[in-house]
Amino acid sequence: MITGQPIDRRDGRQKVTGAARYAAEFQVPGVVHAVLVQSTIAAGSIDGFDLAEAQGMPGVLAIITPDNALKLSRNGGVRQAITAPLLQDNTIVHNGQHVAVVVADSLDRAMAAAAAVRVHTTETEAVTSMESALGQAYPPKNFRDGRRPADSRRGNPEAAFDAAPVQFEATYTTPVEHHNAMEPHATIAAWDGDSVTIYTSTQGISGAQGTIASLFGIDPSHVRIICPFVGGGFGSKGNTWPPVALAAMAARKVGRPVKLVLTRRQTYTSNGYRPETIQRIRIGAGSDGKLLSLRHDGISNMSMPVLGEFVEPVALATEMLYACPDVAVTHRLVDLNLPLPTYMRAPGEASGVFALESAMDELAAELKIDPVELRLRNYAERDGHENRPFSSKKLRECYEQGAAAFDWSRRTPAPRSMQDGRTLVGLGMATSTYPVNRQPASARVRIMADGTAVVQSGTQDLGTGTYTVMAQLAADELGLPIGRVRFELGDSRLPKAPVSGGSMTVGSVGPAVVAACAQACSQLIGMAVADRGATWQGVTPGDLRLRDGAVVGPRGRIGVGEMLARRGVESLDFEADAKPGDEQKQFSLHSFGAQFVEVHVDPDTGEIRVARYVGAFDGGRILNAKTARSQLVGGITFGIGMALLEETLVDQASGRIANSNISEYILPVNADIPDITTILVANDDRNANPIGTKGLGELPMVGVAAAVANAVYHATGVRVRDLPIRLEDVLA
Ligand code: MOS
Repeated sequence: MITGQPIDRRDGRQKVTGAARYAAEFQVPGVVHAVLVQSTIAAGSIDGFDLAEAQGMPGVLAIITPDNALKLSRNGGVRQAITAPLLQDNTIVHNGQHVAVVVADSLDRAMAAAAAVRVHTTETEAVTSMESALGQAYPPKNFRDGRRPADSRRGNPEAAFDAAPVQFEATYTTPVEHHNAMEPHATIAAWDGDSVTIYTSTQGISGAQGTIASLFGIDPSHVRIICPFVGGGFGSKGNTWPPVALAAMAARKVGRPVKLVLTRRQTYTSNGYRPETIQRIRIGAGSDGKLLSLRHDGISNMSMPVLGEFVEPVALATEMLYACPDVAVTHRLVDLNLPLPTYMRAPGEASGVFALESAMDELAAELKIDPVELRLRNYAERDGHENRPFSSKKLRECYEQGAAAFDWSRRTPAPRSMQDGRTLVGLGMATSTYPVNRQPASARVRIMADGTAVVQSGTQDLGTGTYTVMAQLAADELGLPIGRVRFELGDSRLPKAPVSGGSMTVGSVGPAVVAACAQACSQLIGMAVADRGATWQGVTPGDLRLRDGAVVGPRGRIGVGEMLARRGVESLDFEADAKPGDEQKQFSLHSFGAQFVEVHVDPDTGEIRVARYVGAFDGGRILNAKTARSQLVGGITFGIGMALLEETLVDQASGRIANSNISEYILPVNADIPDITTILVANDDRNANPIGTKGLGELPMVGVAAAVANAVYHATGVRVRDLPIRLEDVLA
């Protein structure tokens, strides 16, 4: 089996040598450059433009404003009705909103002219802080795309809380955060008549194809999206954000291919962010720590509704993570003059589990119960919200193996009880969980005369290993060494696959790849039986298998090349679709994990260092031990950033993002991250999908922030409920 082995990323060499081509690097003859002009006010309207100076500057080809912008279709297929930033009207709803696009024959000239565009505006009062607008909080209109209500309850949580011997209540807050993918969003759009080719950095080429087709009123077959590599997305490239359409609009206007690359600063205003949350947790418990009532009320910030709707689903894990008879959760929104928020790695769970797992730690401390023991006492054997069995759940193994590797038993319970010299030592833990998602996907395998195979699906590789693990699955199914299988993705002309979000690429595309290869296998075996005829008399397909480019059986072999030659073809294509069955109705589908962290705190300066980390995860079957570990290390690193460093700061007066660069938006670097021990608990979940995987993209960052906060409490005795945890918090 090649699947499961820790083989190197197949695109690794291309990436480190610079051969991997990213969206902005495609060489398109005659390309010209577009630069966005952005609003400097957060609310109001555009009265007009003074374009005289900019229009007279050298090389300027067009200045597109709401006055002369192509009218785009606002209906059908567009997931988020992003209209205002597409220059369709004069409304301004956030600072940094696109108000014009300047096109010139060079990037420098476009930048210079963009700086010379004068925008006349009427400013109205902006709402820029959640606290000031909490009175206007409202229920979402379209939670989870209308698939379920935003609130849920079972039993009577209020009565159960009132009757509970132990009552706990606290509010937790998390800030706005940005994805900060290494590759900024970039698009090159080139029209040929009524067809457009778009090179863009996206997590979803099929979504981009549909969105552009819909906005421009053309058939999706006239839109080709190309994206062989993505330099990180983390959710920010899941939607097709306005700059993609603006590049296409500009290209149409000037009749030449147009390149539009966001500046780092613009990636803070053009493509979403993780919204701020305010979360209240109420727990009623017995003195034995058994949960009797659980309530999680989440509020997250929205933009103005004209841009769409996005809800941070913070409380969904609270519905299913622990055994508890009486549970209620709510989600509310507050409109602010900020850009539209979006998915960011582990949307909902990352923020929500920080609150829930901090609260569980507080309960454990109050009851003097070991934090792992408290979780085991409330272990959910089935999903109490869906009232279904889990497709598989190895969370107990995660706690056990994680605790053993971490040596959790050396932890002494009292805060400030563990010191190393003058350094305060804290040990904390938290649970992780993330839903298992899957959507329909298609794949094609092309068998070549020399026995090699090209496998194709219109999916994406965000740097996560799609190229590699899909080739592994195909190689095993086709009986080929991996070197004889090529996997192609990132072109909307390939068979359709879903967005690479929600940790579902492997679970969606993998089964399609396996199905297409299995089809190739059985057809080639059928051909072999037919071709060998009487000489293989008595041989049944069950006796045969595909091995190294030939069908092999008890009476010899026949090469794929020979079979193709007999049919006068150079290759054979096999295509298959794979889609979820009724597993969503039968099972509750979740991946799980346990996070363990040791922090060292300097008692004089408050400096917090993460000293040791162990994460143990049940992500189902593991297709590649190396790419899986990379996902885990990346997710945990993301979580440590969330815990201690990351925060987008909005200037309350102007609604402007003050730290829109990676020198002032603090991200963890190597020096902040210790050696991370990762454990993959053995599992193979065929209830989840035919290849047994559950997803690893988001899971490892869930619970990290709580584990760190819990460790900081254990080290210092200071409970920090507001992320990120700052030095001054622990000195208080
Ligand atoms: Mo992920 S935030 O679903 O790209």
